[in-house]
Amino acid sequence: MKTPTPKIKIGFMGLRPSRFGIRGFAVPNEADELVPIPGIEFTALADINAESGQAAKELFGFKRAYTDYREMLKNEDLDAVVITLPTSLHKQATLDCLAANVHVLCDKPPANDYEEMLEIAAAVERSDKQYMFIRQSRFSAVAQATRQRIQSGELGDVYAGETKWIRTRGAQVRGDTWRTNKSKGGGVLIDLGIHGLDLLWYCMGNPVPVEVSASETPAFKQFAPDPEQYTADDNFFFWIRFENDAIIQGSFAFGMNQVGPKGWKKPELDYSDEWQVNQICGTQGGIDIVGGKLITGSSTDFELSQLPVDPALEGINPMITQAKHFVECIQQNKKPQNSIEQAVQLMKMLSALSKSAEMKRTIRLDELLTSTEN
Ligand SMILES: NC(=O)c1ccc[n+]([C@@H]2O[C@H](COP(=O)([O-])OP(=O)(O)OC[C@H]3O[C@@H](n4cnc5c(N)ncnc54)[C@H](O)[C@@H]3O)[C@@H](O)[C@H]2O)c1
Repeated sequence: MKTPTPKIKIGFMGLRPSRFGIRGFAVPNEADELVPIPGIEFTALADINAESGQAAKELFGFKRAYTDYREMLKNEDLDAVVITLPTSLHKQATLDCLAANVHVLCDKPPANDYEEMLEIAAAVERSDKQYMFIRQSRFSAVAQATRQRIQSGELGDVYAGETKWIRTRGAQVRGDTWRTNKSKGGGVLIDLGIHGLDLLWYCMGNPVPVEVSASETPAFKQFAPDPEQYTADDNFFFWIRFENDAIIQGSFAFGMNQVGPKGWKKPELDYSDEWQVNQICGTQGGIDIVGGKLITGSSTDFELSQLPVDPALEGINPMITQAKHFVECIQQNKKPQNSIEQAVQLMKMLSALSKSAEMKRTIRLDELLTSTEN
């Protein structure tokens, strides 16, 4: 008889009992209880807030809860750790996990900047553990279908992508959250921009970036309770040129004086409206990823249709698909779809964009530190 594969013992670092809390590692059953995805067990969690950690332990069914993640790494025989700590702790927590010989899935962004990402890449290189950071948008049925259509050449030469994530008016100005403080890993580029840029870049086949141009404005600083602490960008606009001459342009805002497509004034939210655009254009066709729409045909005889997707992925939360992929990579020693090389390239683009906005000029990627990425 075949011996069953032992379950992967998973620990979480920084786990709030919230709707984002479990990062796709549990799915609700018919009784609406959260059940771990196949092949894993929720072994332990560590959260500095003991009360919140205890609540998360009970909600998700972990065996033990700690307040110090180093104690968890020391006392538990974990196979893998999911890091959902605040952004400024991601690098150190990742290095601590790799030193403790566990596989790592870290929430986005993986680090504060490109230099920190290079430190992580060097540690991953020294270890024999899997490393991934969370980029769930790649794992949606539409994103996977888009990448395949582009790879097959159906859209012709893919020359442009546009990505936007806009919240209208007045978001994120209450209190000193890490999102609006640069030294704590804040800023709309690294918080929301990372999702849109990675999604388009992945679907377009991860072309090599050559140069970037960007502009940033802390437009809502004036409304913050403590403007001194409001040091990060809340509006960010960019343009990236790739080696194959394709470009990606992006606009991201925690708050903007714009009218959104869905309406105006939602007093229950920090912001009035929120919308995303993710579109890719080629010489033979285009895809609207948000709407799941495909444009094909000649200039006089074109068609707009629903993009066909893999039925096995349709309707599945991409966080769950990503969590299953991480488990599969550990079990089968497979290279993750969101590889370390791509993580390094992505962080290089983000750091170049920040530098371009800061220096108010175009930045070539080869002006940044060189690395071993390929
Ligand atoms: N992938 C996504 O779509 C997505 C969505 C939301 C948040 N995030 C990411 O998740 C991360 C956390 O965001 P958040 O809004 O939940 O942050 P948060 O500030 O609420 O912190 C998360 C948890 O970490 C705990 N914590 C803080 N310092 C700790 C420490 N030193 N040791 C142990 N626990 C500690 C907090 O008590 C809290 O429970 C961020 O990096 C954010 O970018 C990703």
